[in-house]
Amino acid sequence: MSKNILTGLQSNSNLHIGNYLGAIKPIIKIQQSLESGDKLYMFVPDLHSFTLPTEHSTLFANTMSNLKLYIAAGLDVQSSQVFMFRQSFIPAHSELAWILSCFSYIGEMERMTQFKAKSQSHEQSITLGLFSYPALMAADILLYNCDYIPVGSDQQQHLELTRNLAIRLNNKFTSLYPEGLFRVPKVWKEQLEFMSLREAVKVRSLSNPLKKMSKSDHDIKGTIYLNDDPEIASKKIMQAQTDNLASIDWDWQNQPGITNLLQLLILLTDSDKSSVIEYWRGKTRYGELKHEVSEAAAKFLTRFQQNLSNVSNEQLINTLNIGEAQARKVANQTLLKVQKALGLREF
Ligand code: ADP
Ligand code: TRP
Repeated sequence: MSKNILTGLQSNSNLHIGNYLGAIKPIIKIQQSLESGDKLYMFVPDLHSFTLPTEHSTLFANTMSNLKLYIAAGLDVQSSQVFMFRQSFIPAHSELAWILSCFSYIGEMERMTQFKAKSQSHEQSITLGLFSYPALMAADILLYNCDYIPVGSDQQQHLELTRNLAIRLNNKFTSLYPEGLFRVPKVWKEQLEFMSLREAVKVRSLSNPLKKMSKSDHDIKGTIYLNDDPEIASKKIMQAQTDNLASIDWDWQNQPGITNLLQLLILLTDSDKSSVIEYWRGKTRYGELKHEVSEAAAKFLTRFQQNLSNVSNEQLINTLNIGEAQARKVANQTLLKVQKALGLREF
């Protein structure tokens, strides 16, 4: 049976090379291995962007520029199997989210670790939206009959909730829809197997290789942004924190800084991992490795930024028009099935 794959990347800030290597590039790889009949939905969950207070004056522009990043990264938007869209342009998301929230229990929402973590760090402003956000995420997935949702492990719990909601409603309405009201996404283990198309990648901060590179990190020296000037990015790499063992090896435990640099070199140059590790093993000059990585990063950024400048607003809008028309069609079909089951429309 053909597969539906969907993923969404939040749009409220500047993306970095970790996001690119860990999330954007894997989607491009997945696209290259699509089989006939498969569909890949790539969307921006813009309604999710203000579950915590955000800067609304730049939200629209950020959404559009993040969508352009996918095109610059090589997502083939001409393909008849790829659809790009913005969540808020498909009203069915909000409507199904409401419906699902009426079948979600307070207790199961309270268990969500992301809610617990985020509400602890923003005690002043915990909104109902932050609490019920997993129901919206479930709607995002169920509307498109998705099997695979390539996301990081922080989203595992939300995915399991989505499965539970789908199964709960399928059971409830089994007499109306014996084949299932919703397609149930694959279990986490199968998601991981599917994602190993992309090796799980965790790029570390250049200034503290014990932490992951992250946009919430305030130390900009540790993070290479996709819009960094290539020369500045090179400097950040030349100043990356390493160790004093004076011998290069792939060893996250004892040489996380060096291993992070090797990983960047492998990913940025699309090289074979074991050959790169073999080549550098035992070499003593960290400066040479840094120099190679900084050249690779500068080359990557120059090419990426060039591609990005070639993506016109017109191309993006055309892509969105096509993607959103398809998304609306599929989402409305699913929503109508649900409305009929609930008694909102005549069966
Ligand atoms: P951030 O930590 O920068 O806020 P998000 O949590 O918004 O990033 O993650 C967006 C996507 O980018 C996720 O799919 C996540 O797995 C991926 N990602 C984020 N940081 C890294 C990193 N340092 N290395 C690899 N992938 C990452
Ligand atoms: N919750 C995801 C995040 O915080 C983003 C997201 C929203 C998403 N809806 C989704 C991801 C549906 C995959 C599928 O990163």
